[in-house]
Amino acid sequence: MPEYKSKPYSHVVRILLILITVGVVGVAVRAMVLPKSFGQYGHYRGTAIEDEMNRPIRNGTNASCLACHPYIREMHMEGVHKTVSCEFCHGPVADHVKDGKVIAGLPKKQGKEIKRLCLRCHNQIIRARPKESIKMISMPQHLEQKHVRVDHNCNQCHNVHAPLMWVKEARAIVGVGEDNR
Ligand code: HEC
Ligand code: HEC
Ligand code: HEC
Ligand code: HEC
Repeated sequence: MPEYKSKPYSHVVRILLILITVGVVGVAVRAMVLPKSFGQYGHYRGTAIEDEMNRPIRNGTNASCLACHPYIREMHMEGVHKTVSCEFCHGPVADHVKDGKVIAGLPKKQGKEIKRLCLRCHNQIIRARPKESIKMISMPQHLEQKHVRVDHNCNQCHNVHAPLMWVKEARAIVGVGEDNR
């Protein structure tokens, strides 16, 4: 039998030493990289709140558009889209107006993009959306019911800013009431 110099528990000591070293280094590194304000209010960086508050505001409200676009205002405020945000369809006011001056135009969707835009809110396949709060349609059934080609675009029949405006006008012309649609 060969004689071993090390004690039978020496491997345990080594593991313990490694664990202690890892622990000490870990605590030291944590102290070095941890932001000063961490834990000021809770388990997060205290100055994060200030950072968020200092972020520039990119979106206004519909009120931020209406003063300069009176013609759209008239349609939008009287139509069924009066509760819909201009910026949802056009992008943030910060890209358009700065200190009361126009710095760049805002995009307005055209062609197929319009259909996609409308269907983001009105598509029947969004099953989680409560039907009482927003009217849903299926495509192409919506157009088949109207007996038009299915490549018709939404804004050929619906004014984007007041979707039922033209529909109502057309009904008035042919003398069809709301009840017998
Ligand atoms: C300070 C006045 C002002 C405000 C506020 C303003 N606009 Fe405008 N907007 C203009 C002017 C002037 C133009 C035309 C400039 C151009 O065509 O480059 C314009 C152009 C646009 C266009 C492009 C029109 C086109 O035919 O290409 C869109 C879309 C638009 N604005 C939407 C908005 C929306 C949405 C808001 C609110 C988030 C808004 N505007 C706020 C003055 C304003
Ligand atoms: C449901 C989406 C939607 C909403 C909400 C919306 N727009 Fe538009 N807007 C469009 C589209 C799409 C176009 C371009 C196609 C068209 O005019 O038929 C457009 C065109 C415009 C234009 C260009 C002028 C014109 O007649 O072509 C301006 C200016 C504008 N919108 C401003 C506004 C403002 C201001 C609001 C809020 C009061 C608003 N829009 C709300 C989708 C929207
Ligand atoms: C941001 C979500 C949103 C977008 C995008 C949107 N709508 Fe609407 N729409 C609404 C809401 C909200 C109403 C009002 C509730 C209702 O009547 O369904 C409405 C109402 C309507 C109505 C009247 C429904 C009725 O009989 O009362 C029509 C038609 C309509 N939208 C068509 C369109 C068209 C066309 C587009 C694309 C240009 C569009 N919508 C884009 C949210 C949206
Ligand atoms: C050929 C004309 C036409 C086109 C194109 C059209 N619609 Fe309509 N839509 C109508 C008419 C007319 C109504 C009025 C309600 C009815 O008679 O069904 C209507 C009603 C609606 C309604 C309300 C449905 C309800 O349950 O009351 C929504 C939402 C709608 N359309 C969205 C759209 C969207 C989104 C598009 C594009 C993908 C579109 N429409 C394309 C003619 C059209």
